[in-house]
Amino acid sequence: MKMRKCGRSEIEVSTLGIGCWSFGGGEDDYWGYQDQKQVEAVVRSALDHGINFFDTAEAYNDGRSEQSLGQALKGRRDQAVVATKVSPANTEPRTLREHCEASLRRLDTDHIDVYYVHWPIADQSVEDAFGTLIDLKSEGKIRSISVSNHGVMQLREALATGAQIDLNQITYNLLSRAIEVVILPLCIEENIGVVSYMPLMQGLLTGKYKTVDDVPPLRRRTRHFRSRGEARHGQPGAEAETFAAVDRVGRLSAEMGIPMTHLSLAWVMAKPGITSVLVGARNRTQIEENAAAAEVNMTAQLIQRLDDAGQAVLEALGADADYWEGSEDSRIR
Ligand SMILES: NC(=O)c1ccc[n+]([C@@H]2O[C@H](COP(=O)([O-])OP(=O)(O)OC[C@H]3O[C@@H](n4cnc5c(N)ncnc54)[C@H](OP(=O)(O)O)[C@@H]3O)[C@@H](O)[C@H]2O)c1
Repeated sequence: MKMRKCGRSEIEVSTLGIGCWSFGGGEDDYWGYQDQKQVEAVVRSALDHGINFFDTAEAYNDGRSEQSLGQALKGRRDQAVVATKVSPANTEPRTLREHCEASLRRLDTDHIDVYYVHWPIADQSVEDAFGTLIDLKSEGKIRSISVSNHGVMQLREALATGAQIDLNQITYNLLSRAIEVVILPLCIEENIGVVSYMPLMQGLLTGKYKTVDDVPPLRRRTRHFRSRGEARHGQPGAEAETFAAVDRVGRLSAEMGIPMTHLSLAWVMAKPGITSVLVGARNRTQIEENAAAAEVNMTAQLIQRLDDAGQAVLEALGADADYWEGSEDSRIR
């Protein structure tokens, strides 16, 4: 497994990381029920494959994802880089300290390796929040200050506080390439590593959904799909372009004899500025299959053909990296 440094920090993470959102989930949670034995098998298998990067958040399943990860890492905590996130509403200095302590307790650890601000701060002082993060870092409670879902203006605001921002975790996959327009170039210029989430577009890029109706309703809320049901964006979507792109990636996969899942993950890993790619895995089989993606040899020609496959979706959905809201309500600026 290849390793990369997180921005200007000394922290080294595997190019493939584990998204732990489903951990600790119950029937009513986003990803549904996830058995702790399965979680432990996923974590064990990840570590055994050289994957050391685990991503959770205080918001995932009301803290149960952190708890579940902490439990699964018992005895092997020193082999892992643990990343968690504070929600933006909890960034008033005293609250932020309390929430950091609560995450430490749930994770059953004395330090968080990467501490992200989950979404841009809208109702608190950005300066006070990052000032507190700088203090938490000097106290050794966190090793890296990072952000998630931050656009150019929000990154500049965070950098202006004097904090060293190591990572920006944000949506990036073959069908969701908005960050290529302005966010990724700024991150490269500022030496902020990009961590991609949703690299398989929640399963669409594995080829398992052939039509819009096959996609589970909660996974159809992004701007790729016509606004229906629980979607908030109110836009017409780009369903024809999206499924045409999936079809092109599928045909390329058949031609090359490389599974679609591997092509999709390896494409993100090969892009300049990307530090790691987080993939959710529900069981050991998925982790084993996904880990093999790190071995795919991505030639410039193959990358170009995959770029071409997703180009029409990029053009249809534009430079707004918030795939859940309409442009006027975009949270990423
Ligand atoms: N910072 C943020 O705001 C933010 C937002 C979203 C996610 N994230 C992070 O990113 C992580 C990953 O993103 P994501 O979970 O939304 O999407 P994803 O990685 O694109 O999709 C993960 C889902 O795809 C399916 N899958 C994975 N490997 C597969 C395989 N080999 N074959 C078939 N299906 C497979 C599994 O679901 P099924 O088996 O149920 O189909 C899995 O839960 C999250 O866990 C979280 O840590 C962060």
